[in-house]
Formats: sequence, structure tokens, C-alpha cells
Amino acid sequence: MIEIEDLWKAYEGNQVLKGLTLKVETGETLVILGRSGVGKSVLLKHIIGIAHSDRGHIEVDGVRVSDLKGEKRYSATRHMGMLFQGAALFDSMNIEENTAFYLKQHGDFEGGKKYSKSEIQDRVDEALRMVDLEGTQKKMPSDLSGGMRKRAGLARLIVYRPKYLLYDEPTTGLDPITAMQINELIVKTQEELKATSIVVTHDIISSLYVGDRLALHKDGKIAYIETPDAFLKIDDPIIEFLRKTISEDPRTFRRK
Ligand SMILES: Nc1ncnc2c1ncn2[C@@H]1O[C@H](COP(=O)(O)OP(=O)(O)OP(=O)(O)O)[C@@H](O)[C@H]1O
Ligand SMILES: [Mg+2]
Repeated sequence: MIEIEDLWKAYEGNQVLKGLTLKVETGETLVILGRSGVGKSVLLKHIIGIAHSDRGHIEVDGVRVSDLKGEKRYSATRHMGMLFQGAALFDSMNIEENTAFYLKQHGDFEGGKKYSKSEIQDRVDEALRMVDLEGTQKKMPSDLSGGMRKRAGLARLIVYRPKYLLYDEPTTGLDPITAMQINELIVKTQEELKATSIVVTHDIISSLYVGDRLALHKDGKIAYIETPDAFLKIDDPIIEFLRKTISEDPRTFRRK
């Protein structure tokens, strides 16, 4: 479980988080929607530990990770992985090296054991197969399309089998078919790893497909958090807009 309590963060006078409180239950996929610039990426960066709040705290499985620094903080969240907005592959490494990165860096996050070369190779090949990128092992990120890079980013995340997965805009900028493949992968990964996931997205269709609960990030806080049906009934201009988008989108269909 991830528990965020009264989180405040300002950047140079810009108050982004204003007492944000949020609880993510173990095993659920929580979707966070919200307008551009409200602080969704900032929130994920606090959870994974690359941004630090001015006030408030974050607990993961009962450990107050926001109080920890350096190696201890890093170690407390080594079972967490994040797909960054824009995929963020290393340009100088080929796809195979990119995918293997965390495995080589961290080894097994439970016991810290290092993997052998052949174990790494097998897991990298399996992850690339899962995201439909077989045969791209020796290609460089610049040789791939945007959608392929995004899937490579996803392979790098799932190869590590994290217990917590944070996805920042996993389907943005993809064609509808590729976006749906990513949605399916998010669900499949969730089921296989029995993970807890947070998905930040602007895509309401994707939200309904992957999300157990939907939240709206607004004015520095989580304004609402509900099951999909209850969420769509909320009287709020942003949700009204989302409702309209759904009724006009021919892709609209629900997973459950
Ligand atoms: N390192 C930083 N230094 C200064 N300002 C920052 C920093 N990181 C984020 N911000 C500011 O915090 C605000 C929220 O940014 P964030 O990237 O979280 O938005 P977002 O909700 O993810 O938007 P989008 O949907 O466009 O990705 C923005 O005003 C941004 O400029
Ligand atoms: Mg963002």
C-alpha cells in the first residue's frame, strides 16, 4: 500500500502540491487524470523518490520512505519501477542494453543477488517479446518509432518485475491500436506480477480499460477518487468534459 499524507511542494514560488493526500491499495490499478501542468508527474517523482516534498510524508508498505535519504531511500523503493513520460531510453545503448539496465544495476531486489549473463539475456528477450519488439535487440533507440520506444521503455520496466509500477502517460502520442496494445500490456503485467500500479494519463478510454479506481488531480490535491462508474457521475466541469469525450469516441469499450 502507498499512503501519501498532506504533501506540499513548491518550485520557485509555484505552489504545485497543496496538501495532497492519497491512498493506493495493494494490488489495485489507480488512474490519475488531470489537466496539463497540475503536478501529476511531480507526484509520481515524489513517490519514486527523485523529488522531495516541502512538507507531508509518503509511506510504502508501512515504511515512511519520505524520511529516508540517499542509499536508504533508494533501497526502500527498489521494488518500484517507473515508465517516464517520453520513455527516456539511454540514447547511447542499444535496446537490449537499455532493457537490461535495471537488472544489471540492481540484481534481484528481494535478495540483491546479481543475475548471470544468460539469465539477463533470457529475461530481456522475454520482456521484448511481451511488448512485441522481438528482433530489435541490437537496434539503437533512434532507429525506432515513438511507439516502439515507448514499448521498449515498458520492457525495461517489466523485466525488473517490480511490485509497484508507476506509468507516466503510457499511451500519449501513440496511434489508437498501439495505445490499446499498451493498455493490454498494463493489464497483463498487473495480473502477472500481482503488482500495484499508478497510471497517469489524459486518455479516458485507456483509464476505463486499465483502472480499478479513477482519481482527479486538481488544484494541488486529489479532488476525487472513485470506481469508474461513480467517477463518471461526478458533477465537475473536467469530468463533464471527459464524459463528452467518451460518448464521442468510437473506441469506447470497457474491460469489465
Ligand atoms: N524540477 C522542476 N523545477 C521547477 N518547476 C517544476 C519542476 N518540475 C515540475 N515543475 C513545475 O511543476 C508544475 C507541474 O508539472 P508536472 O510536470 O507535474 O505537470 P503534469 O501534471 O505532469 O503535466 P502534463 O500533463 O503536461 O505532463 C509545472 O508548472 C512545472 O513547470
Ligand atoms: Mg506530466
